[in-house]
Amino acid sequence: LKRSFIREILEHTNSNTISFAGGLPDPSLFPTKELKECTKKVFEDTSSLQYGNSMGYLPLRNHIAQFYTKKGFPTSKDNILITTGSQQALDIICRYYSGSTITIERPSYLGALNIFKLNNMLIQTVKLTKNGIDINLLKKSIKNSKLTYLIPDFQNPSSICYTKFNRLEVAKLLDSSNTILIEDSPYSQLYFETQQKPISWLLEDKSYHIGSFSKILSPSLRVGWIRANKKLLEPLVAYKEAMDLHTSVITQKIIYEYLKDAQTLELHLNKLRVKYKEKMLYFSKELDCYLPSFSYEKPKGGMFIYGALENIDTSKFLQKCLQNGVVYVPGIEFGGEYNEIRFNFTNNSLQDITKGLKRIKKSLEETI
Ligand SMILES: Cc1ncc(COP(=O)(O)O)c(C=O)c1O
Repeated sequence: LKRSFIREILEHTNSNTISFAGGLPDPSLFPTKELKECTKKVFEDTSSLQYGNSMGYLPLRNHIAQFYTKKGFPTSKDNILITTGSQQALDIICRYYSGSTITIERPSYLGALNIFKLNNMLIQTVKLTKNGIDINLLKKSIKNSKLTYLIPDFQNPSSICYTKFNRLEVAKLLDSSNTILIEDSPYSQLYFETQQKPISWLLEDKSYHIGSFSKILSPSLRVGWIRANKKLLEPLVAYKEAMDLHTSVITQKIIYEYLKDAQTLELHLNKLRVKYKEKMLYFSKELDCYLPSFSYEKPKGGMFIYGALENIDTSKFLQKCLQNGVVYVPGIEFGGEYNEIRFNFTNNSLQDITKGLKRIKKSLEETI
C-alpha cells in the first residue's frame, strides 16, 4: 500500500511553498461565524458529549433524507447512514464487499484506490472521455464486476462531469447487469451553471450514493453519509460499529443546527459557486499566460483543473517545482498519463495562484 502522495509531498514543503496539490476548500469562505454560533448552542446540551447512535444523529438523518426527497428521490431516515467523512463511507462499503472485483474510472480518486487495495479488491479500470465514462468499455468490464465506483460530478482528478446522455446510458447498462453502483459525489453541489441528476436516482435498488459536508461546509467536521435502500444499507451498520461505533455527535449536531434554517446552506452554496467560478476563471487566465503549453478544458464545477504538459514527465518535473516552492499532483498518481497534472484552484489566494504559476514557468524554463 502506497502512502497518500499528497500527504507525503506536503511533508516536504515549507511555509513558503505554494500548494496546488490538496483538494482543499477556500478557507476564507468557511462559514466560521455561523458555525461558531451553532457550536455554542450544541454545547448547551450535555447529551452532545454522550455516545450516540450507530446510524447517526436522527434529526440530521431526517434532514438529509428530506433533501433527497425534495429533489425527487424519495428517501427516509432508514436509507441514511452517517459516516465519518465520505472516506469512511467508501471504506465501510468496501470492507463489506472485501475481495470483490470493482470497475473504476481511469484516472480516479487516490484515496479510493488505497481503500480498494486495502480490501483486496480486484481493480478494473475504464477510461474516461470528455462526456463521461466510455460505455463500450464499461459494458465489457462490468460483466465480471460486483461493484462499479464512479464520481460523475466534477470528477476527482479530471473534473469531468458526465453528460445527461452518458448518465442514462450508464444507468441502463448497470440496471441490466449484476453490478452495484457506488456513486461518490462530494462535488455535486459545486456546479457553476447547471446540476445533473445523480445516476443513483435511476438505480434505486442497486446503488450506494455517497455524500459529504467536507467540500460544502468544512472538511474538519468529518461528516459524510451513505444513501441506499434498506437491504443494501442494513448489513453495513455492523461494519460502521466495528470501525468507530458512531460518528462524532458534536459535529453532527453542529451541522444539524447549521441546516435548520433552510436558507442558510443555499445562500452559502450560491456564494461558493460564484467565488469558485471566479477563481477557476482566474486560474485559467494565468495558466494560459504563464504555461501556454498546458492543454486542458475549463471545468464546469468542482475544485480541480486537469490537463497535460506536452512531453514533460510531470513526476520528475515535480522535484524541480518543489525546489522552486510550488507543488501539484502528477496525473500518474491517479492512474492518468505521465504528462498530466491536477491543479487545485480553490485553496490559494489570487496572488498565490499567480506566484505559484510563475514558479512553475520558471521551473519549466530551467528544465527545457
Ligand atoms: C471523490 C472523493 N471522494 C471522497 C473524498 C473524501 O472526502 P471526505 O472524507 O472529506 O468526505 C474526497 C476528498 O477529496 C474525494 O475527492
